[in-house]
This record gives sequence, C-alpha cells and structure tokens, in this order.
Amino acid sequence: MKAVEIKKGIYWVGVKDWNLREFHGYTTSRGSTYNAYLIIDDKITLIDGVKAPFTDLFMRRIASVIDPAKIDVVICNHVEMDHSGALPAIMEKAKNATLYCPPAGERGLKMHYDTANWKMQIVKTGDTLNIGKHTLTFVQMPMVHWPDSMMTYVADEKLLFPNDGFGQHYASDELFDDENLDIILDEAKKYYGNIVWPYGAQVQKVLETAATLDIEMIAPSHGIIWRKHIPEIVEKYKLWSSYGSIADKAVIVYDSMWGSTEQMAREVAAAWGEKGLRVTLCSLKYSNVSDAINDIVEAKYVALGSPTLNSGILPTMGAFLTYLKGLAPKNKVGFCFGSYGWKKDAQDEMQNILTNLGWELPEPIMTINWRPTPEGLRQLHETALKVVK
Ligand code: FEO
Repeated sequence: MKAVEIKKGIYWVGVKDWNLREFHGYTTSRGSTYNAYLIIDDKITLIDGVKAPFTDLFMRRIASVIDPAKIDVVICNHVEMDHSGALPAIMEKAKNATLYCPPAGERGLKMHYDTANWKMQIVKTGDTLNIGKHTLTFVQMPMVHWPDSMMTYVADEKLLFPNDGFGQHYASDELFDDENLDIILDEAKKYYGNIVWPYGAQVQKVLETAATLDIEMIAPSHGIIWRKHIPEIVEKYKLWSSYGSIADKAVIVYDSMWGSTEQMAREVAAAWGEKGLRVTLCSLKYSNVSDAINDIVEAKYVALGSPTLNSGILPTMGAFLTYLKGLAPKNKVGFCFGSYGWKKDAQDEMQNILTNLGWELPEPIMTINWRPTPEGLRQLHETALKVVK
C-alpha cells in the first residue's frame, strides 16, 4: 500500500476502484481511480481525498510517506463524495490541518459533513498559498463538474491538479499515460461525454487559463496522469468543449422489437457508408447508454431508431433520450426512423428531443408499417442519403 512519487516530494496517494461498474448512471466498464496527492513541504499538503469506503486504504497509502496526523493543509478541489468521502477522517486525524476550498466548496462540505471542528479557509481564483518550497495557485472552474470545482497549480513543478477535468474512469496497473494511449483517450472521451459534456463553455474557460500556464504534468482525480501526451488530450478537450465533431463519423443508436427497425438501421448505415461515412451501429439492447454517448461525442451524424411500443417508443430508447437530454450535446445532424404497427407517431418523441437540442434535422422522420418492403427500404435509403451533405 505504498504511495508513488510522481515528482520529487510529491506523491500519488489515491486508490484504485477496480470493481466500480456504475457511477450515477455512467457504466464504468474499466473501473475507476480516486486520485489524491500528498506534497511533502514545510506544510504537509494533501490535495483531494477518496471515496469513503476506501478511507483505510487511503490512510495507509499516506502513512507509507508520513503520519496523516502531520498534514497541515488539505485542498478540497471538489466536494463530490468520490473525492471528499474520506476527508472527515483526515480532518479528525490531522487536528491542526486547515482545509482550503472555494466558497461553493465550503457550502457543499457543510451540507455533507459535520464540519463544526474543521478549520476552513476560503480561496478564490488567483489566490496563492505558500507551503514552503512550493506555492499553490487556485483557479475556480465552476461546473467542471459541480459549482465548487477548482483546480490547483504548482508553478515551480509545472504541475496541474484539475480534479475531474482531463479524467477518465479507468483503473489500470499504469499510473501515467506512457502506454495504451488509444484506450486512455477513449476513456477520456467517454468521461467527457458522460460527465462534462453539458459544460462546454466552462471547459473552454479552463482551457484558456491552462494555456497561460506552463504545464508538464496534469494530475487529474480519476484515471492516469498525463505527462507524455498533454498536447493530445488538450486538443481533444478543445474539440469536445467546442462541440466539434469529426466530419465523416456517424452513429446509429436504435433498438428493435421484431427486427424491422434493426433492418432500417442497417439500411441507414448502408446509405451513409455509400456517402463515405464511418458508421457505428449501437443497439441499446446490447450497449449501455454511456457507451452510446461515447460513440456520439465525436460523430457529426446521429440517427435514432425505435419502433412504436403501445403509444410510445421502446423503454431503452426512452432512457437513452432522458440521458441525452441532460447531457445536451450540440451541433449534430440528426435523423429519426422506426417501424410501427397501428400507431405511427411515436417517433415524434425522438424528433422533438433532437429539435429541442437544436440539432439540424434535414429530413423528416421515416417510418415503415410492420415489415420493411424492398420499396420501403429503397425510400429510406434515398432519404438517409439526403441527410448527409
Ligand atoms: Fe469525480 Fe465530480 O466527481
């Protein structure tokens, strides 16, 4: 249970949650980590904590470097319980510690824990804290991911602690981004799409601030630490936060009852393939909503398909749309389709949500009664072709 030194006198003291498979609706297929960091300086400083059930492991990791009772400074970059859950135990043990957080952080901590005996100090963007050899600079980054979110920068080490920013739900035997870049970037995209997507404007502000800093290591609160591929992840964040997409990427998210809508999905895929698009088919019968979102993040074209069930759409598509609405992605070209038996208008539900998201919908909904005929599929094919510019 040893800490890992990531820079001289600065240690990773987090924990790996190999078995995590669900994070408020997000299916975390590769688990996650809760990264916390310990700086050995004149003032012993802890940056963030871990989820409460891992408190003992966390304490042991810190104790491999120093007695947790000797911690002088606790930085709370984010109140969400995956990072703050172990802080009550830390504040109980480190009697002389002062906890630093932004105003929304203080309010959040007081709502979550009994903080009556905690020494707390409010910090805001631009405030600094000298801890000896190092000076910490704080930058608030509200809504990346909660109103209290903040990043901490150590200028002399060119080291940024952006908490949820640049993170991935990814438990790995690696601590750094030296290997498996494709997997890490894919998990970073999945994390962005499922956690940070609604807050593009706020992420852009973070990127503007980060551009003014000299950074050689980004140590987020989840997943691996960036040191080798910082330009790649920053470029990706620029793309994702500006709601940009890759022009030839397309996704068809659908579910089917007796195979008619599935046939339609494959026909749309064929048409889009003819147009030179790279198409991913994502059946909600087999894929979870988080993976569907990951597929959509960089796609320019997104088709949604569901048959009518009773007077509505299939529940898998209903759940997906609820999730999608909350994440509020922008700048997509959409297309809706589906089969029906005796009630034709259920697909309007999909179309209305995409309209409200502001997506471009160049063609009307395409429906097919009962089973697709060759003529029905031909018409669908022609319409799908027209969706693509
Ligand atoms: Fe990793 Fe918003 O908590």
